[in-house]
Amino acid sequence: MRIGYHPEAYAWGLPADSVKFWALSKMLMKGIEISSEDVARIQQEFRIIGRTEELREALYAITAKKHILIEGAVGVGKTVIADALARYFKRKIYRIDGDERYTEQKMVGWFDPPLVMAKGYSKETFIEGPLTQAMLGGAFFFINELNRMPEGTQNVLLPAMDERRITIPRIGIVESKEEFIIIATQNPEEYIGTSRLSEALKDRFVWIRLDYQSEEEERDIVRKETGSKDGALVEIAVKIARRTREDPEIRKGSSIRGAVDTVAIVQRNTPKQVSELDDSRRREVIERAAIMALSSKVEVREGSNEKLLEVLKKIISGVLNEYQRTLSGKTEAKELQPQAEHSENFRSASLWSGRL
Ligand SMILES: Nc1ncnc2c1ncn2[C@@H]1O[C@H](COP(=O)(O)OP(=O)(O)O)[C@@H](O)[C@H]1O
Ligand SMILES: [Mg+2]
Repeated sequence: MRIGYHPEAYAWGLPADSVKFWALSKMLMKGIEISSEDVARIQQEFRIIGRTEELREALYAITAKKHILIEGAVGVGKTVIADALARYFKRKIYRIDGDERYTEQKMVGWFDPPLVMAKGYSKETFIEGPLTQAMLGGAFFFINELNRMPEGTQNVLLPAMDERRITIPRIGIVESKEEFIIIATQNPEEYIGTSRLSEALKDRFVWIRLDYQSEEEERDIVRKETGSKDGALVEIAVKIARRTREDPEIRKGSSIRGAVDTVAIVQRNTPKQVSELDDSRRREVIERAAIMALSSKVEVREGSNEKLLEVLKKIISGVLNEYQRTLSGKTEAKELQPQAEHSENFRSASLWSGRL
């Protein structure tokens, strides 16, 4: 179906997703804003925390039939957002993960040698690659980590994006359906095994930038990922991960995955909440877990593994000292006001957040 092609799309027995797409396009043509309900539905359906503005922008882009480049550091949620958008429209998604060995043939398609021997070169003997399939099917073509692909492979996308056609030797021209959209992600800060996107390629995308989320949202993500009910543990893990992004001795800080992994490891190590452990046990458990979780994700500006360990230990103990102080502060507060009946987590979170 062409977008906005027929208002009685339902009556034509078209799938609900085309109708949804048509409805969104129609809203945009009329100048009606994408409603916050659409965004809320994506957040709910795919368990996306926050990112309201970015999702709204992405809906504008998709309904305007623009290809989207989602850019951001590792772990900011590029893949999870792109995946949710594609699934929200319930259209077919062809996903590829860029790497330096990804060839043009893999993306466009290739002739099957035994079949060619038997039948010669023809459409029948051509195995369509994911780009060709997505174009013909009017699907989403989701390219994860676009800048990891060799430049030659990236260039195949140019005519597909604006002319909406590609030429395949011995087959001819393949034209895409109008609904064909590319959603690509890239981490511009990553420089090993990546190439810079050409001006021509960048020019054909609209751009959505994902920055790190707020501390509160990061806590929600960690809770969602780990199922942890230990508010203090989640708070500690998130603070540690965030400090690695601010420390002047660190070149590359930890993504949210550092906090998720810290919590997951502590959960395996002790069934207790961290507030129930005595201070030295708590330090031991959290420090070990955080070092395991962060060492592979964090890079120091200068120095060796020992330097990395030293910096991580400094950050971890700094956060744990603050936590310890809030605990003693709380005991004092309780002694002063024994009638105050707040939950443990609420108290520690509110006292602590106020301080930082
Ligand atoms: N806004 C968010 N809501 C829910 N989960 C998120 C969000 N951002 C990141 N995540 C989770 O954090 C992890 C890293 O996200 P991912 O999309 O893989 O990052 P990237 O592709 O940018 O490296 C995943 O487990 C993902 O589910
Ligand atoms: Mg990713």
